[in-house]
Amino acid sequence: MKKITVIGTGYVGLVSGGGISDFGHNVTCADIVESKIKSLQEGEIPIYEPGLNSLVERNVTAGRLSFTTNIDKAIQDAEVIFIAVGTPQGENGEANISAVESVARSIGKNLNGYKVICTKSTVPIGTGDRVCELIRESMPENGEFDYVSNPEFLREGSAVKDFLWPDRVVIGATSEKAFEIMRDVYSPLYVNEKPMLHTNVATAEMIKYAANAFLALKISYINEVANLCEQVGADVHQVAKAMGQDGRISPKFLHPGPGYGGSCFPKDTHAIAALSKKKGTPMNTIDAAIITNNNQKKRMTEKLLNLVGGDFSNKTIGILGLAFKPNTDDVRESSSIDMIQAILEGGGMVNAFDPIANESMKLFFPNLNYCDSWETACNNTDAVAIMTEWNEFRGLSLGELKSIMKSPTILDTRNILSMEKLKEHGFKYDNVGRIKAL
Ligand code: UDX
Repeated sequence: MKKITVIGTGYVGLVSGGGISDFGHNVTCADIVESKIKSLQEGEIPIYEPGLNSLVERNVTAGRLSFTTNIDKAIQDAEVIFIAVGTPQGENGEANISAVESVARSIGKNLNGYKVICTKSTVPIGTGDRVCELIRESMPENGEFDYVSNPEFLREGSAVKDFLWPDRVVIGATSEKAFEIMRDVYSPLYVNEKPMLHTNVATAEMIKYAANAFLALKISYINEVANLCEQVGADVHQVAKAMGQDGRISPKFLHPGPGYGGSCFPKDTHAIAALSKKKGTPMNTIDAAIITNNNQKKRMTEKLLNLVGGDFSNKTIGILGLAFKPNTDDVRESSSIDMIQAILEGGGMVNAFDPIANESMKLFFPNLNYCDSWETACNNTDAVAIMTEWNEFRGLSLGELKSIMKSPTILDTRNILSMEKLKEHGFKYDNVGRIKAL
């Protein structure tokens, strides 16, 4: 059992802290935000993430997980320190690492003997060197440490599962000793024979960006294929299915939609694109994925505009789904933001409903008519747009929907509704890249 401190109790820090304590280690999660730590100490989890509440609760009860604002002590007491603070997108597209730098200085000041310092936050390639430099500058004479990069691959909505049952664990470490310590941290996974990759620090940092940017690229690719399908009378679902049957392509992340959102793909694609330019090897493929994604969001607003006869003014639109994907209350970079913006700019009104993300969207649009059910949101509307594929929208009764709308018009940006049923009920509809029912 190791003594571990995780600094930063955001999404990544909390899931990692909970997960590592579940492996049997003694974990302290530290943060400078007092209100956050206070609520965590009172058993309140500040984010919505399936399974996180019970993960935290069972490890707190077992005495393996605790929360503190005393960062200095948390550093002094630990053998391994995880840096899991935010790295928001800076003005030039590069990630802003000032929080990571400030944690590095605190670690240096409190380095009372050998420790492994491990970065989990997604950081620009080369950050490892910077963190080591800052620790060395501020550490006492007896300070001794090894640096490790251990990127996270957590999807919101299934982050707990991704942490406890990962596809792989990447450990970027130049020191064998540090690698062995990290192997001990993740030993339950090792027993389960999860592949653990030992790389150098820059390679580990690169793996994270390369993986996320590739997935973003894959989504943008299938979205462009979908758009072309619409022009040539092909069906993107059949195209994607057959593409995915080729083992070299795989069927995952080939679902067309309104453009990717969230806190990772948009930020990470911008960061790797900016870095590649800075290093003189621009990644044109990633630039293209970013442009395509912006265009896809815009294309959805144009589809809706066409459905309502080219004018949003005085029209009431029901927006079903605000989160950037199901099972999260995160609305960052969600395509529903672009959709709502376009409707409001066009003089329309919005009834919005998300099973859990209404509150989050209020930060972006405080004055929408937020509703507590899809029925209320669709009542008396001129059109409805499905923006997130929540299960409850998959099964909504089209008969009931039609009976409460002013005009039965629907844009299904997630391709979750049956076109045959839409036709049967007399809906005017559109979706992404599918052959319409005749
Ligand atoms: C992502 C990565 O998957 C994860 O490994 C990483 O470390 C953090 O970023 P996340 O942003 O939580 O996770 O969501 P993800 O499930 O990857 O979806 C991202 C976006 O792509 C969503 O807007 C989703 O709707 C969209 N998407 C995904 C598609 O449009 N089509 C697909 O086939 C898959």
